Amino acid sequence: MAAASAPQAADEQWGSRVGFVLASAGSAVGLGNIWRFPSVAADNGGGAFVLLFLFVILLVGAPALMAEMALGRHTRRNPVDAFASLRPRSRWALAGGLGVLASFVILSYYSVIAGWVLAYALMAVRGDLVGQDATALGQTYANLAGHPWRPVFWHAIFMAMTVAVVAGGVRRGIERWAKILMPALVALLVVLGVRTLTLDAAREGAVWFFTPRWDLFTWSSVVRATGQVFFSFSLGMGVMITYGSYLGRAEDIPRSAAYVAAADAAIALLAGMIVIATLFAFGLPVQGGPGLLFITLPALLGRMPLGAALTLAFFAMVAMAALTSAVALLEVVAAFAVQRLGMARRRAVVAAAVLIFGLGVPSALSQGARPVHLLGRDFLSALDAVTSDLILPLGGLSTAVFVGWVWGVEPALRELRAGSPRFRAARVWAASVRVVIPVTVAGVLAAGLAGVR
Ligand code: PFF
Repeated sequence: MAAASAPQAADEQWGSRVGFVLASAGSAVGLGNIWRFPSVAADNGGGAFVLLFLFVILLVGAPALMAEMALGRHTRRNPVDAFASLRPRSRWALAGGLGVLASFVILSYYSVIAGWVLAYALMAVRGDLVGQDATALGQTYANLAGHPWRPVFWHAIFMAMTVAVVAGGVRRGIERWAKILMPALVALLVVLGVRTLTLDAAREGAVWFFTPRWDLFTWSSVVRATGQVFFSFSLGMGVMITYGSYLGRAEDIPRSAAYVAAADAAIALLAGMIVIATLFAFGLPVQGGPGLLFITLPALLGRMPLGAALTLAFFAMVAMAALTSAVALLEVVAAFAVQRLGMARRRAVVAAAVLIFGLGVPSALSQGARPVHLLGRDFLSALDAVTSDLILPLGGLSTAVFVGWVWGVEPALRELRAGSPRFRAARVWAASVRVVIPVTVAGVLAAGLAGVR
């Protein structure tokens, strides 16, 4: 492969800082915020977990975001070549390779879940969901997820939407759509937030959500908080390296990373409040899993005044959040195929999407009558467990060690200061990348392997 010795650099750039921040926030804000965060927080001591989550964001999440963005901008390359160009002929390219692989695998099942969301959005448009109680909705969910071909169909539709965005390119595809979808998402969230918080019992739920309950707070909460921050910030799989590679030198990385971190945290907290408050308002136990998104919430929203519109707003919002995250995952794979394999962009995007779609089919069929199994679980859960508990922390750990010890904090700081001459948290950042992130992530990895989760 001739391209291996002279990797091609990114030939596109973001049109504006707002565009870059919205695209990165779009990648971060996804199913992880709306579905995973509320239930993990509720299980791990509510307010106590929220405090820890914010703490992990400050000490681990935000510095890791900056490290990935700096690595991407400095090398202007896809994750594999970002590592390889700084340490040629070493094994470090594998760290980037792991990221590309993780993006590939995560997108394959993320798109299946997003496909269910699209199916629900259509049902909401047709008014099919309103009036169903939780039992009927449970049946609706089982009928959809276990259907012999509907999940595959919706998975294909969602992948096609993702292709349509990514094929347009960085500026005219990803950035343009992020500028439309992210504000729309925030607007819908605010409407839902106002609606749910004006229910009387809901306010109690919101208070409950933010009240620390230290008895539920254990060491495993620390593990879960770190894992949640990594997943939610899209760290450890090359997304932020890739997005950073399209950044101009004058761009202020610390400031942009702070905006992205704040947006992701704010949306997780808002979504958590909405979800928990709604459950409270209807006196239901707080539990997570697919049931929360596809059964409990539609059951509750449908019982409120304007229920049909709220249900539609909710699924439209989730679909938008999922789309901007899927776009980032496909871009990682596409950037690799374009720069390393020398493929034309459109062709790379379509080829990657077809392969990812194929890998997603067993996940789409994994909830049916004859489920596909892997490692003793259904295919979708197995892929999720392997990627989020293993590959993702491994990717995060190697990136931090690479930036902190191999590339080195001084060159990395020069890169950060290029667009941010008065970056004041330099020492904290360096300590985080060299020590705090590696130690925390290694702990999470060890705990994950030992089955603490
Ligand atoms: N951050 C997304 C979420 O919270 O749903 C999930 C995700 C997107 C993870 C993109 C990784 C990624 F590269």
